[in-house]
Amino acid sequence: MARIIILRIGHRVFRDMRVTTHVCLTARAFGADGVIIADREDKVVESTIRDVTSRFGGPFQVQTGIAWKKAVKDWKNSGGKIVHLTAYGLPLPKVLPEIQDLTYDMMIIVGSEKMPGEVFKIADWNVSVTNQPMSEVAALAVFLDWYMDHQEFAHEFSDAQVRIVPSKSGKEVQQVAS
Ligand SMILES: C[S@@+](CC[C@H](N)C(=O)[O-])C[C@H]1O[C@@H](n2cnc3c(N)ncnc32)[C@H](O)[C@@H]1O
Repeated sequence: MARIIILRIGHRVFRDMRVTTHVCLTARAFGADGVIIADREDKVVESTIRDVTSRFGGPFQVQTGIAWKKAVKDWKNSGGKIVHLTAYGLPLPKVLPEIQDLTYDMMIIVGSEKMPGEVFKIADWNVSVTNQPMSEVAALAVFLDWYMDHQEFAHEFSDAQVRIVPSKSGKEVQQVAS
């Protein structure tokens, strides 16, 4: 199975902590392998996501403070492809067959503040989830749902301590035997 990594560009420590955490949680819930938060170290986000992963399972990697250009260069050198989610890109339904045909490892770039212009050039695909401005968390969720053909519902997490039991009413959480 190809690896899926999210590259979060433009994270501002404190100000974006909640949204960036949601980018990470969404990526994990949909079965991505990890997130790189570019350019700025954020130990709080790292520790929140590691805590969720140790309780609810993984594997899921979170790294912060890697220069985005280095992350992109390393990814390309290892043969991976890049999708950049942007309202200015080609519509997801139009490009999805081409993207899904590939077995390449996939890096998905999402922004926060204004994205550097070079990102549009280095991406193999600039993909829009509607051509309207929206949240990066929502755009990522829709992209991953389409890309995975809804298989996120069947995704298995390993080494979980707890598991949520789907319930019609109320909250049920089970301890997982080790
Ligand atoms: C809230 S937007 C801010 C964009 C910023 N104002 C700019 O002009 O680049 C943050 C991120 O959400 C994602 N995004 C926003 N709208 C999108 C859309 N319609 N389709 C795909 N991604 C989108 C992009 O990754 C974008 O960098």
